[in-house]
Amino acid sequence: RPKVDVTLYDLMEKIAKFYQRKLSSPQGKPAVNYLKKRGLSGEIAKRFAIGYVPGEWRNLESIFPQLKTDKKLQQQLIDCGMLIKKDNSLYDRFRDRIMFPIKDKRGRVIAFGGRIIDQGEPKYLNSPETPIFHKSNELYGLYQARQANRKLERLLIVEGYMDVVALAQFNINNAVATLGTATTESHLQQLFRTTRELVLCFDGDRAGRDAALRALEHGLSQLRDGRDIKLMFLPDGEDPDSMVRKVGKDEFLRQVSESTPLFEFLLKHLASQVDLNSVSGRGQLVHLAKPYLDKITDPIYHEFFSNALADKAQLSVEKLEKIIEQPQQTA
Ligand code: GTP
Ligand code: MN
Ligand code: MN
Ligand code: MN
Ligand code: MN
Repeated sequence: RPKVDVTLYDLMEKIAKFYQRKLSSPQGKPAVNYLKKRGLSGEIAKRFAIGYVPGEWRNLESIFPQLKTDKKLQQQLIDCGMLIKKDNSLYDRFRDRIMFPIKDKRGRVIAFGGRIIDQGEPKYLNSPETPIFHKSNELYGLYQARQANRKLERLLIVEGYMDVVALAQFNINNAVATLGTATTESHLQQLFRTTRELVLCFDGDRAGRDAALRALEHGLSQLRDGRDIKLMFLPDGEDPDSMVRKVGKDEFLRQVSESTPLFEFLLKHLASQVDLNSVSGRGQLVHLAKPYLDKITDPIYHEFFSNALADKAQLSVEKLEKIIEQPQQTA
């Protein structure tokens, strides 16, 4: 890994503190009202260090008075994605937004997500990739989840910042969000260092099921040592934030505990593409399942999925193994 300029972390921390102060200043009033309207308390805002950046083009000059002349500092703030240089002028990337600091596992601020107040485009503006921020590795809320509970039995993977903080508002402190990207293998690897069970929350619509399938392809290779991956599908149009508000904490947690085991979802999904009443359909099922089976390196999980598949295809496991060892016929 290339060496990074450690002062970038200090700069980000200083900026996060500044945004937090701005949230509780008169300028931050509309932002506070918006957060209140969405049901968030001051305590949760504080726990997640939520802030506000005013609408001026050069807010950062007020915390870095030397910024106008200090070329090195200018470059560092460009490097960490906070300043934009255009035609020899410098201005803040983030203006007039509610700011969610993104922390790494050690609690260092490495990036920001900025939400517009109420309506507008783009709804969220995120830090770009920087030497200290690689978004396919980071998860929003992981630091706070670990702070809240050192022994996390289960983590929920959700889509957005607001989902994480809304769940925390309901005292559900084990949610983390990917940062506008699909769930990657690196995400799952990291999370399995913290917990044994992952519940991935998706929209119940087509896009959600497709996203679940993609996440699951990464998940299969991570299965071992009693690890578990489950999938939770929300009704169309709902996200964890809207859902927990609608049904409350207990019902939400009940639904989490009833989420679908990964193999059940996978088999059901594959079976829905074939006609299980015909021999050829059952053969197709085996071939559809083979690439997934190949991703499972753990012998116990491999055996488990083979058995479930054989059962569904009405084959003996011996026969199944024979079929999947043959090279695939091209139609
Ligand atoms: P609210 O609308 O405030 O409830 O946020 P949300 O988290 O429900 O947003 P949504 O479901 O639309 O998006 C989920 C996640 O995708 C967000 O938390 C962002 O990380 C990302 N995202 C959403 N909109 C944008 C956008 O306009 N630009 C970028 N870069 N990312 C976005
Ligand atoms: Mn990937
Ligand atoms: Mn959807
Ligand atoms: Mn959403
Ligand atoms: Mn939402």
